[in-house]
Amino acid sequence: RSLSRFLSLADFETAARRALPRQIYGYYAGAAETSQSFQGNFAAFRQYDLVPRVLTDVSSRSTRAKLFGMDYWAPFGIAPMGLSGLATFDGEIALARAASAANIPSIVSATSLTPLERIAQEGRARWFQAYLPGEDARIEAMVARVQAAGYDTFVLTADVPVAANRENNVRTGFSIPLQPSLRLAWDGLSHPRWLCRTWFATLLSRGVPHFENMDAFRGPPILARNVVRAIGARDQLAWRHLALIRRLWPGRLVVKGILSPADAVLARENGADGIIVSNHGGRQLDGARPPLLALPEIAEVSGSMAVMLDGGIRRGSDVLKALALGADFVFVGRPFLFAAAARGEAGVSHAIALLVAEIERNMALLGVSRIEDVGAAHVERSPFPR
Ligand code: FNR
Repeated sequence: RSLSRFLSLADFETAARRALPRQIYGYYAGAAETSQSFQGNFAAFRQYDLVPRVLTDVSSRSTRAKLFGMDYWAPFGIAPMGLSGLATFDGEIALARAASAANIPSIVSATSLTPLERIAQEGRARWFQAYLPGEDARIEAMVARVQAAGYDTFVLTADVPVAANRENNVRTGFSIPLQPSLRLAWDGLSHPRWLCRTWFATLLSRGVPHFENMDAFRGPPILARNVVRAIGARDQLAWRHLALIRRLWPGRLVVKGILSPADAVLARENGADGIIVSNHGGRQLDGARPPLLALPEIAEVSGSMAVMLDGGIRRGSDVLKALALGADFVFVGRPFLFAAAARGEAGVSHAIALLVAEIERNMALLGVSRIEDVGAAHVERSPFPR
């Protein structure tokens, strides 16, 4: 179907489910244990109603948003997502290019399959997300690598001290690295388009992809017989390591995965310039509170830090609710990966444009002309459980 028939972000998921092998779609779409936090993220947006103002002359409205001194097309960016390189050929490059062309930020994941140095050449504002072990020497080496590549914003993801329990991956036979099996082969063969255009195209251009950005050196291949766990020592990571990164890193420093006001204060005290309020899209601690519900009390104690949020944003109205509740900016994950799987870079560009159009239209309906004017008066807690 042509791109113009994708009318909302949700439409891409349907197409991605068809396009991708079951194991990969399951990894992208899935969440931890009962999916309670994943579903809670959407339910949280339904707990708030917007309060529109009328007759405010919205003829010169603009979705433009400022973050860390940069001007973006809209107040959202693309969240970091591991294995994006399996959504489409050179998936990480597709996401970075589409974001860059639209003038929105995108965050390169530590578990991406393309070297961060190569992706750095695509983006305008360069954000890198790291998973770090609690070992000073490895942290120093990683920070030096990211700096040498020219990134300006370092995002430390803090909510992955251990791998989460994602039973859906075990059920479909998905593992990291992928283990060769009849099931995997059959899954690939039953998606011939993906097999040729993504998997074989990748093999031909650069061989079996590796985790390129887990450490200062190249990580393990994504297809291997023995499951290698590269997470080691992440459970030793502590606030003092954030202070260490702060001493080493001259650019913007962001902590991702904050859900408690006390942790927002610690992030600030240890030198963070911003935080991403997030439960990792429901993929880590199942039962963790929805970021939207944590947002108001966190925004209150964040001082001069930028407060960002991700998880469950699928509509322009969701973006406006997050802004009204105290976010300066938001990030969106799965929909952009599904857009890449469905239509590559053009799909991601289209998805970005759809979300911007929704924000712009809903700003008019809400009665605001500028993103900075969206405030607490535009939202109230809904009296109806939905
Ligand atoms: C993620 N997320 C993630 N976060 C991170 O800090 N590093 C990572 O490598 C990944 N990898 C990853 C892979 C996939 C397939 C998904 C779906 C998510 C979490 C991501 O950055 C973000 O927090 C959530 O995806 C936001 O929720 P929504 O927008 O997907 O609902």
